Amino acid sequence: MRKKLIAGNWKMNLNITDSEVLIKKLTEGIHDSYFDKCDVLVCPPFTSLMVTHSLLRGTKIKLGAQNLHWEKDGAYTGEVSATMLLSAGCEYVIIGHSERRQYFGETDETVNKKIKKALENNLKPILCVGESLQQREEGIFKLVVENQVKAALEGITKEQMKDFVIAYEPVWAIGTGLNANSDQISEMNMIIGDTIGELYDSEAAVSLLILYGGSVNDKNSEEIFSTCGVDGALIGGASLKPENFINIIKSIK
Ligand code: 13P
Repeated sequence: MRKKLIAGNWKMNLNITDSEVLIKKLTEGIHDSYFDKCDVLVCPPFTSLMVTHSLLRGTKIKLGAQNLHWEKDGAYTGEVSATMLLSAGCEYVIIGHSERRQYFGETDETVNKKIKKALENNLKPILCVGESLQQREEGIFKLVVENQVKAALEGITKEQMKDFVIAYEPVWAIGTGLNANSDQISEMNMIIGDTIGELYDSEAAVSLLILYGGSVNDKNSEEIFSTCGVDGALIGGASLKPENFINIIKSIK
């Protein structure tokens, strides 16, 4: 079985001191043998990237950011570029999280620009897609996710898809305690895989990692990981609790 990717999205949580505490607990608690089954990634806020990077040196835990800007540099107050993330030690970057789409005006077009910039700089993108509760209830959820994937990948070549990760995160499951069930997750993974197959080919669809995100915790992770097509998880709240995060990793069979 291929390795899963277990990613913690810390969102806007933890100052530098709190980040140090969490990372120390993770590095102590995640034994070397766990890495046979998965890669582990943490995505702290920008202010904690450097300290996290230095604490992770010599460990197998990887580092990612939660956002980037598509321009190289310049007068973009409050933004952070791909090269800045690289210099802070990032290997991955989350792009198009629903919270950014919902609260910060992220559109399919800006998501696409960010993906291009990340790939140009050899940062591995984790593209987030997912439908709202209303879209699910209206029965348009498959189309919504398919369109999000297509728009995000406009102009991206098959070669660039090599290290690509897509996280299916239904908006109604994020932070609500209501995770999608196995049938819902595998159905959406199939849609995402088929969309990649249609845009590129079956090889690209097979090599793509598809994560699930939305209320993953150490009680439901085993079932989620055994769901068809799930290559790992993007975890919010539970990634801030070291015991919970480590138990999620341990639940991979
Ligand atoms: P929760 O795990 O807190 O539901 O958040 C999921 C998420 O948004 C990860 O990106």
